[in-house]
Amino acid sequence: MASLTLAEAASKVMVALDKPDAAAALALAEELQGKGCWMKVGMELFYAAGPAVVRELKSRGFRVFLDLKMHDIPNTVRGGARSITRLGVDLFNVHGAGGIAMMSAAIEGVRDAVDAGDAVQAPIVIAVTQLTSTSQSVLNHEIGIAGTVEDAVVRYARLARDAGLQGVVASPIEVAAIKAACGTDFITVTPGIRPSGADAGDQSRITTPYDAVAGGTDFMVIGRPITAAPNPAQALDNILKEMTEG
Ligand code: C5P
Repeated sequence: MASLTLAEAASKVMVALDKPDAAAALALAEELQGKGCWMKVGMELFYAAGPAVVRELKSRGFRVFLDLKMHDIPNTVRGGARSITRLGVDLFNVHGAGGIAMMSAAIEGVRDAVDAGDAVQAPIVIAVTQLTSTSQSVLNHEIGIAGTVEDAVVRYARLARDAGLQGVVASPIEVAAIKAACGTDFITVTPGIRPSGADAGDQSRITTPYDAVAGGTDFMVIGRPITAAPNPAQALDNILKEMTEG
């Protein structure tokens, strides 16, 4: 594997700003300012602080992944995608389990906003395949999907590609199978990253940052190993070092 520079490594990291309010999230963002990483705004922060915190992160120069995992009827997802596109995020996601019509509706919503001149850019749209907290046993016995996790993930990835999406969220363990099925340009965003020796927490399908890079992941989402660290900037630096050196 060609080794990454620290700047290249940073541009692949999306820090999950899973914080209860704007003040806590922006304080953390300030500590990571200038590192070159993305910010991921998920449900906890967005439901508390709304679009304003996304605009603030954009005005501070961060690229933003809005992780709201939309899953609803196509017309509702189309409207949601329109609003998200107007907000100016760089990437957002929908659930692959919504099917092709629902995922295509997200793309139409993006187009609506761009064609109406309401947005300066079309964000990248990706699909959630199977949550990285989902184990084989949960998939088969609770969710009721037969077969391996990898089969289910690759099936969702193909659906997402057919719907016109640019990539998927999956575990780093599944990247090779996804790229083989959907092409090397199909973007993979992988949570479930744990630096050597870190606590897995509620995640099931995990790898280290170095193995994720070696496996060909395009972007890695990292939350608690950075956000819950006593010194988040130092924790990020250690992860970037691990990505470049192993
Ligand atoms: O703290 P941790 O590194 O586990 O955070 C992972 C982040 O990625 C969380 O914000 C979680 O919502 C998100 N995520 C995930 N699995 C997915 C999609 C998103 O863990 N399939």
